[in-house]
Amino acid sequence: MSCFELQGKVVLVTGASSGLGREISVSIAKCGANCFLTGRNEQRLIQTCNLLSGGKHQYLAADLTSISERSGLINSIPVLDGLVLSSGMLVTKPVGFWTEQNVNEILNANFSGVALLVSEIVKNRKLGQGGSIVFISSIAGNVIAHKGNGLYSASKGAINALLKVLALELAPRRIRVNAVLPGMIRTDLWEGKSFDKQQLEIEERKYPLGFGSATDVSNSVVFLLSDATKWITGAELVIDGGYSLQ
Ligand SMILES: NC(=O)c1ccc[n+]([C@@H]2O[C@H](COP(=O)([O-])OP(=O)(O)OC[C@H]3O[C@@H](n4cnc5c(N)ncnc54)[C@H](OP(=O)(O)O)[C@@H]3O)[C@@H](O)[C@H]2O)c1
Repeated sequence: MSCFELQGKVVLVTGASSGLGREISVSIAKCGANCFLTGRNEQRLIQTCNLLSGGKHQYLAADLTSISERSGLINSIPVLDGLVLSSGMLVTKPVGFWTEQNVNEILNANFSGVALLVSEIVKNRKLGQGGSIVFISSIAGNVIAHKGNGLYSASKGAINALLKVLALELAPRRIRVNAVLPGMIRTDLWEGKSFDKQQLEIEERKYPLGFGSATDVSNSVVFLLSDATKWITGAELVIDGGYSLQ
């Protein structure tokens, strides 16, 4: 459990219906934040909401690739102290097998929808002075390369490039912009994709500290949302148990 203080902060978490977004919501609520949860699946958002301690928590289902659903979300959220962007998807296909639909789908979900949401939040002054934006990116973005990961890596690399520009542009409002770059964490993202059980065991042996858990990521998000990091902006925090050091 993190000891960083988020008492009374209002934080929007995307991707809150599953995996890392759900765990992040649980962790930040434990530290005193009021969560506004979003994702596409309302039933699973309600499940996340039921896991949260204290605070005044709300949810709204929205597909971030839809202009009208993003607009509904913007109109529903209060002025925020924190924004955690954990929505995302995975496509693993070597370059010779991509379709136009694959390219559009992953770039819309992992980059365009996320970038436009941030833009609309800023435009509508829904992130207050001293706010903190945390992107859940990936070491696949610009730290390591894996065959078959081209589209996913490109979508996360775009986020890593974006965050540094946003950090500069939003500094006059004392808004900080950072990213966490996790290695492999077992969530629905990997369910039925690319690795069978045996391959996962082989992959795990490549991690000096073994596979991480969703809590390893959520603790870092708490840190970046807290005032303890009020002078950290434009940073990419690698969380991969030493994987990318080799
Ligand atoms: N797990 C890992 O190993 C790992 C490693 C590095 C980085 N990451 C990143 O961490 C983030 C969370 O991944 P995860 O492992 O928690 O995956 P997950 O369990 O599959 O969760 C993905 C979340 O994104 C939401 N989402 C997907 N497309 C969306 C869209 N168009 N509009 C709104 N919400 C959308 C899903 O909502 P619904 O389920 O409601 O549709 C779900 O809540 C992703 O950005 C992923 O790239 C994960």
